[in-house]
Amino acid sequence: MKTILVTGGAGFIGSHTCVELLQNGYRICVVDNFCNSSPATLDAIHEITGKYFPSYNCDLIDEKALAQVFQEEKIDAVIHFAGLKAVGESVQKPTLYYRNNVTGTLNLLEQMEQNGVRRLVFSSSATVYGENNPIPYKEDMPTGQTTNPYGTTKAMIEQILRDLCQSDSRWSTMLLRYFNPIGAHPSGLIGEDPNGIPNNLMPYIMRVAQGTLPYLNIFGNDYPTKDGTGVRDYIHVCDLAVGHVKALNALFAQEGASVYNLGTGQGSSVLEVVKTFEQESGVPVPYQFAPRRAGDLPEYFADASKAMQELGWQAQFTLADMCRDSWNFIKMKSPSERELVAK
Ligand code: NAD
Ligand code: WQD
Repeated sequence: MKTILVTGGAGFIGSHTCVELLQNGYRICVVDNFCNSSPATLDAIHEITGKYFPSYNCDLIDEKALAQVFQEEKIDAVIHFAGLKAVGESVQKPTLYYRNNVTGTLNLLEQMEQNGVRRLVFSSSATVYGENNPIPYKEDMPTGQTTNPYGTTKAMIEQILRDLCQSDSRWSTMLLRYFNPIGAHPSGLIGEDPNGIPNNLMPYIMRVAQGTLPYLNIFGNDYPTKDGTGVRDYIHVCDLAVGHVKALNALFAQEGASVYNLGTGQGSSVLEVVKTFEQESGVPVPYQFAPRRAGDLPEYFADASKAMQELGWQAQFTLADMCRDSWNFIKMKSPSERELVAK
Protein backbone atom coordinates (compact mmCIF):
# COMPACT_ATOMS: atom_id res chain seq x y z
CA MET A 1 0.00 0.00 0.00
CA LYS A 2 1.43 3.37 -1.02
CA THR A 3 1.75 6.21 1.50
CA ILE A 4 0.86 9.72 0.38
CA LEU A 5 1.97 12.77 2.33
CA VAL A 6 -0.83 15.33 2.10
CA THR A 7 0.31 18.86 2.95
CA GLY A 8 -2.61 21.09 3.90
CA GLY A 9 -4.70 17.95 4.43
CA ALA A 10 -6.92 19.64 7.02
CA GLY A 11 -7.99 22.35 4.55
CA PHE A 12 -11.03 22.50 2.30
CA ILE A 13 -9.78 20.61 -0.77
CA GLY A 14 -7.14 18.61 1.14
CA SER A 15 -9.66 17.08 3.56
CA HIS A 16 -11.93 15.88 0.74
CA THR A 17 -8.94 14.43 -1.07
CA CYS A 18 -7.82 12.62 2.11
CA VAL A 19 -11.23 10.93 2.22
CA GLU A 20 -10.97 9.89 -1.43
CA LEU A 21 -7.40 8.58 -0.97
CA LEU A 22 -8.36 6.51 2.08
CA GLN A 23 -11.38 5.11 0.24
CA ASN A 24 -9.16 4.12 -2.69
CA GLY A 25 -6.59 2.03 -0.88
CA TYR A 26 -3.95 4.63 -0.14
CA ARG A 27 -2.35 5.21 3.25
CA ILE A 28 -1.98 8.90 4.09
CA CYS A 29 -0.15 11.14 6.51
CA VAL A 30 -1.09 14.78 6.89
CA VAL A 31 1.08 17.83 7.50
CA ASP A 32 -0.74 21.06 8.38
CA ASN A 33 -0.02 24.05 10.61
CA PHE A 34 -3.77 24.75 10.95
CA CYS A 35 -3.34 28.42 10.05
CA ASN A 36 -6.58 28.18 8.04
CA SER A 37 -8.14 24.96 9.35
CA SER A 38 -8.79 22.95 12.48
CA PRO A 39 -7.52 19.60 13.77
CA ALA A 40 -11.20 18.67 14.23
CA THR A 41 -11.36 18.22 10.44
CA LEU A 42 -8.93 15.30 10.77
CA ASP A 43 -11.37 13.67 13.23
CA ALA A 44 -14.15 14.19 10.68
CA ILE A 45 -12.07 12.44 7.98
CA HIS A 46 -11.72 9.52 10.37
CA GLU A 47 -15.46 9.59 11.08
CA ILE A 48 -16.28 9.43 7.35
CA THR A 49 -13.77 6.75 6.40
CA GLY A 50 -13.37 4.75 9.62
CA LYS A 51 -9.61 4.92 9.03
CA TYR A 52 -6.86 6.27 11.24
CA PHE A 53 -3.80 8.06 9.87
CA PRO A 54 -0.86 10.00 11.31
CA SER A 55 -0.88 13.80 11.28
CA TYR A 56 1.74 16.41 12.11
CA ASN A 57 1.18 19.96 13.28
CA CYS A 58 4.05 21.25 11.19
CA ASP A 59 4.74 24.45 9.26
CA LEU A 60 6.44 23.89 5.89
CA ILE A 61 8.62 26.87 6.73
CA ASP A 62 10.07 24.88 9.67
CA GLU A 63 12.71 22.79 7.89
CA LYS A 64 13.67 20.77 11.00
CA ALA A 65 10.09 19.78 11.78
CA LEU A 66 9.55 18.82 8.15
CA ALA A 67 12.73 16.74 8.11
CA GLN A 68 11.40 14.89 11.17
CA VAL A 69 8.21 13.97 9.29
CA PHE A 70 10.24 12.50 6.42
CA GLN A 71 12.29 10.51 8.95
CA GLU A 72 9.23 9.04 10.60
CA GLU A 73 7.20 8.22 7.49
CA LYS A 74 8.08 6.16 4.46
CA ILE A 75 6.50 8.33 1.77
CA ASP A 76 5.86 7.31 -1.85
CA ALA A 77 4.42 10.59 -3.18
CA VAL A 78 3.21 14.00 -2.01
CA ILE A 79 0.02 15.94 -2.73
CA HIS A 80 0.84 19.54 -1.90
CA PHE A 81 -2.17 21.68 -0.93
CA ALA A 82 -0.57 23.76 1.85
CA GLY A 83 -0.56 27.43 1.01
CA LEU A 84 -2.23 30.75 1.66
CA LYS A 85 -4.97 31.56 -0.87
CA ALA A 86 -6.63 34.92 -0.19
CA VAL A 87 -6.10 37.09 -3.27
CA GLY A 88 -6.76 40.43 -1.50
CA GLU A 89 -4.55 39.59 1.46
CA SER A 90 -1.74 38.65 -0.93
CA VAL A 91 -1.83 42.19 -2.36
CA GLN A 92 -1.56 43.62 1.19
CA LYS A 93 1.08 41.14 2.41
CA PRO A 94 3.09 39.93 -0.61
CA THR A 95 6.16 38.82 1.33
CA LEU A 96 4.00 36.62 3.58
CA TYR A 97 2.61 34.92 0.46
CA TYR A 98 5.96 34.47 -1.28
CA ARG A 99 7.53 33.12 1.92
CA ASN A 100 4.71 30.79 2.87
CA ASN A 101 3.87 29.48 -0.59
CA VAL A 102 7.17 29.59 -2.48
CA THR A 103 9.66 29.04 0.38
CA GLY A 104 7.34 26.44 1.90
CA THR A 105 7.32 24.56 -1.41
CA LEU A 106 11.11 24.81 -1.78
CA ASN A 107 11.56 23.37 1.72
CA LEU A 108 9.22 20.52 0.81
CA LEU A 109 11.04 19.80 -2.46
CA GLU A 110 14.41 19.75 -0.68
CA GLN A 111 13.16 17.26 1.89
CA MET A 112 11.65 15.15 -0.87
CA GLU A 113 14.94 15.13 -2.79
CA GLN A 114 16.97 14.25 0.30
CA ASN A 115 14.65 11.33 1.01
CA GLY A 116 14.37 10.07 -2.57
CA VAL A 117 10.66 10.99 -2.88
CA ARG A 118 10.30 12.52 -6.35
CA ARG A 119 6.58 12.37 -7.17
CA LEU A 120 4.40 15.37 -6.48
CA VAL A 121 0.87 16.57 -7.27
CA PHE A 122 0.59 20.36 -6.93
CA SER A 123 -2.47 22.58 -6.32
CA SER A 124 -2.25 25.19 -9.00
CA SER A 125 -5.02 27.50 -10.10
CA ALA A 126 -6.84 28.85 -13.14
CA THR A 127 -5.49 32.20 -11.99
CA VAL A 128 -2.18 31.38 -13.77
CA TYR A 129 -3.95 31.98 -17.12
CA GLY A 130 -3.98 35.69 -16.27
CA GLU A 131 -5.97 38.31 -18.13
CA ASN A 132 -5.08 37.85 -21.78
CA ASN A 133 -6.09 34.34 -22.81
CA PRO A 134 -9.30 33.59 -24.73
CA ILE A 135 -11.86 31.27 -23.12
CA PRO A 136 -12.11 28.37 -22.62
CA TYR A 137 -8.66 28.07 -21.06
CA LYS A 138 -6.48 25.27 -22.42
CA GLU A 139 -3.40 23.86 -20.74
CA ASP A 140 -1.04 24.88 -23.57
CA MET A 141 -1.94 28.57 -23.39
CA PRO A 142 0.70 31.00 -22.11
CA THR A 143 0.63 31.58 -18.35
CA GLY A 144 2.24 33.92 -15.89
CA GLN A 145 0.46 37.22 -16.69
CA THR A 146 -0.86 37.08 -13.14
CA THR A 147 -2.58 40.03 -11.49
CA ASN A 148 -1.79 39.49 -7.80
CA PRO A 149 0.98 37.97 -5.63
CA TYR A 150 -1.11 34.89 -4.80
CA GLY A 151 -1.43 34.06 -8.49
CA THR A 152 2.24 34.80 -9.03
CA THR A 153 3.21 32.27 -6.34
CA LYS A 154 1.27 29.63 -8.29
CA ALA A 155 2.94 30.56 -11.59
CA MET A 156 6.37 30.59 -9.90
CA ILE A 157 5.88 27.20 -8.27
CA GLU A 158 4.70 25.72 -11.58
CA GLN A 159 7.93 26.98 -13.17
CA ILE A 160 10.05 25.59 -10.32
CA LEU A 161 8.42 22.17 -10.76
CA ARG A 162 8.94 22.19 -14.54
CA ASP A 163 12.61 23.15 -14.05
CA LEU A 164 13.04 20.40 -11.49
CA CYS A 165 11.63 17.76 -13.84
CA GLN A 166 13.82 19.11 -16.64
CA SER A 167 16.93 18.83 -14.45
CA ASP A 168 16.37 15.26 -13.27
CA SER A 169 14.28 12.65 -15.06
CA ARG A 170 13.56 10.87 -11.78
CA TRP A 171 11.17 13.72 -10.88
CA SER A 172 7.53 13.49 -11.89
CA THR A 173 4.91 16.15 -11.13
CA MET A 174 1.28 16.90 -11.89
CA LEU A 175 0.24 20.55 -11.97
CA LEU A 176 -3.52 20.66 -11.39
CA ARG A 177 -5.21 23.96 -12.22
CA TYR A 178 -8.46 24.18 -10.27
CA PHE A 179 -11.25 26.47 -11.35
CA ASN A 180 -13.79 27.53 -8.63
CA PRO A 181 -14.19 24.74 -6.04
CA ILE A 182 -17.39 24.81 -3.98
CA GLY A 183 -19.70 22.19 -2.42
CA ALA A 184 -18.91 19.86 0.45
CA HIS A 185 -18.83 16.17 1.32
CA PRO A 186 -22.42 14.81 1.25
CA SER A 187 -22.03 13.68 4.88
CA GLY A 188 -21.95 17.35 5.90
CA LEU A 189 -18.95 16.61 8.12
CA ILE A 190 -16.34 18.48 6.08
CA GLY A 191 -16.68 21.57 3.91
CA GLU A 192 -15.74 25.23 3.72
CA ASP A 193 -16.54 27.85 6.34
CA PRO A 194 -13.92 30.62 6.38
CA ASN A 195 -13.31 32.88 9.37
CA GLY A 196 -14.52 36.48 9.16
CA ILE A 197 -16.40 37.99 6.24
CA PRO A 198 -15.95 35.70 3.23
CA ASN A 199 -14.37 36.93 0.00
CA ASN A 200 -15.66 34.15 -2.22
CA LEU A 201 -19.15 33.82 -3.60
CA MET A 202 -20.47 30.56 -2.16
CA PRO A 203 -19.29 31.14 1.45
CA TYR A 204 -20.84 34.63 1.24
CA ILE A 205 -24.15 33.20 0.00
CA MET A 206 -24.08 30.78 2.96
CA ARG A 207 -23.78 33.66 5.43
CA VAL A 208 -26.68 35.50 3.82
CA ALA A 209 -28.79 32.33 3.85
CA GLN A 210 -27.94 31.80 7.53
CA GLY A 211 -28.96 35.38 8.27
CA THR A 212 -25.48 36.36 9.49
CA LEU A 213 -25.06 38.88 6.66
CA PRO A 214 -28.04 40.88 5.33
CA TYR A 215 -27.57 40.59 1.57
CA LEU A 216 -25.16 39.58 -1.17
CA ASN A 217 -23.36 42.25 -3.17
CA ILE A 218 -23.21 41.09 -6.78
CA PHE A 219 -20.09 42.71 -8.17
CA GLY A 220 -21.11 44.03 -11.57
CA ASN A 221 -24.23 43.50 -13.70
CA ASP A 222 -22.89 45.08 -16.88
CA TYR A 223 -20.36 42.48 -17.99
CA PRO A 224 -20.63 41.16 -21.56
CA THR A 225 -22.00 37.83 -20.25
CA LYS A 226 -25.33 35.99 -20.52
CA ASP A 227 -27.01 38.09 -17.80
CA GLY A 228 -24.40 40.78 -17.11
CA THR A 229 -22.95 39.11 -14.00
CA GLY A 230 -19.55 37.37 -13.78
CA VAL A 231 -19.24 33.83 -15.12
CA ARG A 232 -17.04 31.12 -13.56
CA ASP A 233 -16.50 27.37 -13.78
CA TYR A 234 -17.73 26.10 -10.39
CA ILE A 235 -16.63 22.57 -9.56
CA HIS A 236 -17.72 20.28 -6.74
CA VAL A 237 -14.90 19.68 -4.27
CA CYS A 238 -15.67 15.92 -4.32
CA ASP A 239 -15.10 15.88 -8.10
CA LEU A 240 -11.77 17.62 -7.47
CA ALA A 241 -10.87 14.97 -4.88
CA VAL A 242 -11.52 12.19 -7.43
CA GLY A 243 -9.39 14.12 -9.93
CA HIS A 244 -6.47 14.03 -7.49
CA VAL A 245 -6.67 10.27 -7.09
CA LYS A 246 -6.77 9.83 -10.89
CA ALA A 247 -3.80 12.19 -11.24
CA LEU A 248 -1.90 10.33 -8.54
CA ASN A 249 -2.49 6.98 -10.22
CA ALA A 250 -1.14 8.44 -13.46
CA LEU A 251 1.79 10.07 -11.65
CA PHE A 252 3.21 6.67 -10.75
CA ALA A 253 3.31 5.77 -14.44
CA GLN A 254 4.69 8.98 -15.95
CA GLU A 255 7.93 10.96 -16.19
CA GLY A 256 8.27 14.73 -16.21
CA ALA A 257 5.76 17.51 -15.57
CA SER A 258 2.12 17.29 -16.73
CA VAL A 259 -0.55 19.93 -16.40
CA TYR A 260 -4.33 19.48 -16.24
CA ASN A 261 -7.30 21.77 -15.83
CA LEU A 262 -9.75 20.53 -13.22
CA GLY A 263 -13.01 22.22 -14.11
CA THR A 264 -16.39 21.22 -15.50
CA GLY A 265 -16.03 23.11 -18.78
CA GLN A 266 -19.32 24.94 -18.00
CA GLY A 267 -19.63 28.59 -17.01
CA SER A 268 -22.30 29.76 -14.53
CA SER A 269 -23.17 33.38 -13.76
CA VAL A 270 -23.48 34.81 -10.26
CA LEU A 271 -27.24 35.13 -10.76
CA GLU A 272 -27.46 31.48 -11.85
CA VAL A 273 -25.62 30.42 -8.69
CA VAL A 274 -27.96 32.49 -6.52
CA LYS A 275 -31.09 31.14 -8.23
CA THR A 276 -29.88 27.54 -8.12
CA PHE A 277 -29.03 27.88 -4.43
CA GLU A 278 -32.49 29.28 -3.68
CA GLN A 279 -34.15 26.40 -5.52
CA GLU A 280 -32.08 23.73 -3.76
CA SER A 281 -32.29 25.19 -0.25
CA GLY A 282 -35.69 26.85 -0.33
CA VAL A 283 -33.99 29.82 1.37
CA PRO A 284 -34.09 33.27 -0.28
CA VAL A 285 -30.82 35.13 -0.84
CA PRO A 286 -31.43 38.87 -0.95
CA TYR A 287 -28.92 40.65 -3.18
CA GLN A 288 -28.09 44.04 -4.59
CA PHE A 289 -25.97 44.97 -7.56
CA ALA A 290 -22.70 46.65 -6.64
CA PRO A 291 -19.79 48.02 -8.71
CA ARG A 292 -17.42 45.57 -10.35
CA ARG A 293 -14.73 44.19 -8.01
CA ALA A 294 -11.21 45.33 -8.93
CA GLY A 295 -9.25 42.60 -10.70
CA ASP A 296 -12.27 40.44 -11.64
CA LEU A 297 -12.50 39.06 -15.17
CA PRO A 298 -15.93 38.97 -16.86
CA GLU A 299 -15.94 35.26 -17.69
CA TYR A 300 -13.73 32.20 -17.69
CA PHE A 301 -14.11 28.44 -17.70
CA ALA A 302 -12.02 25.39 -18.46
CA ASP A 303 -11.49 23.33 -21.53
CA ALA A 304 -11.70 20.13 -19.50
CA SER A 305 -11.01 17.69 -22.35
CA LYS A 306 -7.35 16.92 -21.59
CA ALA A 307 -8.09 15.50 -18.12
CA MET A 308 -10.89 13.41 -19.63
CA GLN A 309 -8.75 12.03 -22.44
CA GLU A 310 -5.57 11.37 -20.46
CA LEU A 311 -6.70 10.78 -16.87
CA GLY A 312 -10.18 9.43 -17.57
CA TRP A 313 -11.57 12.11 -15.25
CA GLN A 314 -14.68 14.19 -15.78
CA ALA A 315 -16.71 16.19 -13.28
CA GLN A 316 -19.97 14.43 -12.33
CA PHE A 317 -21.76 16.84 -10.00
CA THR A 318 -24.11 19.62 -11.13
CA LEU A 319 -24.35 23.16 -9.82
CA ALA A 320 -27.51 22.06 -7.96
CA ASP A 321 -25.48 19.31 -6.21
CA MET A 322 -22.83 21.85 -5.26
CA CYS A 323 -25.38 24.25 -3.77
CA ARG A 324 -27.21 21.47 -1.89
CA ASP A 325 -24.01 20.05 -0.38
CA SER A 326 -22.59 23.46 0.59
CA TRP A 327 -25.83 24.25 2.42
CA ASN A 328 -26.03 20.82 4.03
CA PHE A 329 -22.53 21.33 5.50
CA ILE A 330 -23.42 24.74 6.92
CA LYS A 331 -26.68 23.43 8.44
CA MET A 332 -24.83 20.46 10.00
CA LYS A 333 -22.44 22.87 11.72
CA SER A 334 -25.26 24.25 13.81
CA PRO A 335 -25.61 22.10 16.99
CA SER A 336 -29.41 21.98 16.79
CA GLU A 337 -29.27 20.54 13.26
CA ARG A 338 -26.72 17.91 14.28
CA GLU A 339 -28.99 16.81 17.13
CA LEU A 340 -31.91 16.56 14.72
CA VAL A 341 -29.87 14.46 12.31
CA ALA A 342 -28.70 12.22 15.19
CA LYS A 343 -32.34 11.60 16.19
P1 NAD B 1 -7.37 25.91 2.66
O1 NAD B 1 -6.86 27.18 3.23
O2 NAD B 1 -8.67 25.39 3.14
O3 NAD B 1 -6.28 24.75 2.85
C1 NAD B 1 -4.89 25.00 2.89
C2 NAD B 1 -4.33 24.28 4.10
O4 NAD B 1 -2.91 24.51 4.15
C3 NAD B 1 -4.91 24.81 5.42
O5 NAD B 1 -5.31 23.71 6.21
C4 NAD B 1 -3.74 25.57 6.06
O6 NAD B 1 -3.80 25.51 7.47
C5 NAD B 1 -2.53 24.84 5.48
N1 NAD B 1 -1.30 25.62 5.39
C6 NAD B 1 -1.13 26.84 4.84
N2 NAD B 1 0.15 27.22 4.93
C7 NAD B 1 0.83 26.20 5.52
C8 NAD B 1 2.19 25.99 5.90
N3 NAD B 1 3.13 26.92 5.69
N4 NAD B 1 2.51 24.83 6.49
C9 NAD B 1 1.58 23.89 6.74
N5 NAD B 1 0.28 24.04 6.43
C10 NAD B 1 -0.08 25.19 5.83
O7 NAD B 1 -7.38 26.08 1.06
P2 NAD B 1 -8.02 25.15 -0.05
O8 NAD B 1 -9.16 25.88 -0.64
O9 NAD B 1 -8.20 23.78 0.47
O10 NAD B 1 -6.85 25.19 -1.11
C11 NAD B 1 -5.85 24.18 -1.17
C12 NAD B 1 -4.83 24.55 -2.24
O11 NAD B 1 -5.51 24.71 -3.47
C13 NAD B 1 -4.12 25.87 -1.97
O12 NAD B 1 -2.77 25.74 -2.38
C14 NAD B 1 -4.86 26.85 -2.86
O13 NAD B 1 -4.03 27.92 -3.24
C15 NAD B 1 -5.20 25.97 -4.04
N6 NAD B 1 -6.37 26.46 -4.79
C16 NAD B 1 -7.53 26.73 -4.12
C17 NAD B 1 -8.63 27.21 -4.81
C18 NAD B 1 -9.90 27.59 -4.10
O14 NAD B 1 -10.67 28.38 -4.63
N7 NAD B 1 -10.19 27.04 -2.92
C19 NAD B 1 -8.54 27.38 -6.20
C20 NAD B 1 -7.36 27.07 -6.86
C21 NAD B 1 -6.26 26.60 -6.13
C1 WQD C 1 -16.79 34.38 -8.17
C2 WQD C 1 -17.76 35.35 -8.86
C3 WQD C 1 -17.27 37.64 -8.36
C4 WQD C 1 -18.26 37.44 -4.10
C5 WQD C 1 -11.05 33.20 -6.67
C6 WQD C 1 -9.59 33.44 -6.91
C7 WQD C 1 -9.03 32.37 -7.82
C8 WQD C 1 -9.35 30.97 -7.28
C9 WQD C 1 -10.80 30.82 -6.97
C10 WQD C 1 -7.53 30.20 -5.91
C11 WQD C 1 -17.06 36.58 -9.43
C12 WQD C 1 -18.63 37.25 -7.80
C13 WQD C 1 -18.05 37.11 -5.42
C14 WQD C 1 -19.33 38.31 -3.74
C15 WQD C 1 -19.89 38.47 -6.08
N1 WQD C 1 -8.68 30.71 -6.03
N2 WQD C 1 -18.85 37.62 -6.39
N3 WQD C 1 -20.11 38.79 -4.76
O1 WQD C 1 -12.69 35.59 -7.90
O2 WQD C 1 -13.55 33.80 -9.48
O3 WQD C 1 -11.74 33.26 -7.93
O4 WQD C 1 -11.24 31.89 -6.12
O5 WQD C 1 -6.73 29.93 -6.73
O6 WQD C 1 -7.66 32.59 -7.91
O7 WQD C 1 -9.43 34.72 -7.50
O8 WQD C 1 -13.98 33.59 -7.02
O9 WQD C 1 -15.87 33.23 -5.48
O10 WQD C 1 -14.49 35.35 -5.25
O11 WQD C 1 -16.00 35.07 -7.23
O12 WQD C 1 -20.62 38.96 -6.95
O13 WQD C 1 -19.54 38.65 -2.59
O14 WQD C 1 -18.67 35.84 -7.86
O15 WQD C 1 -17.30 38.95 -8.85
O16 WQD C 1 -17.74 36.93 -10.61
P1 WQD C 1 -13.00 34.18 -8.15
P2 WQD C 1 -15.08 34.30 -6.13
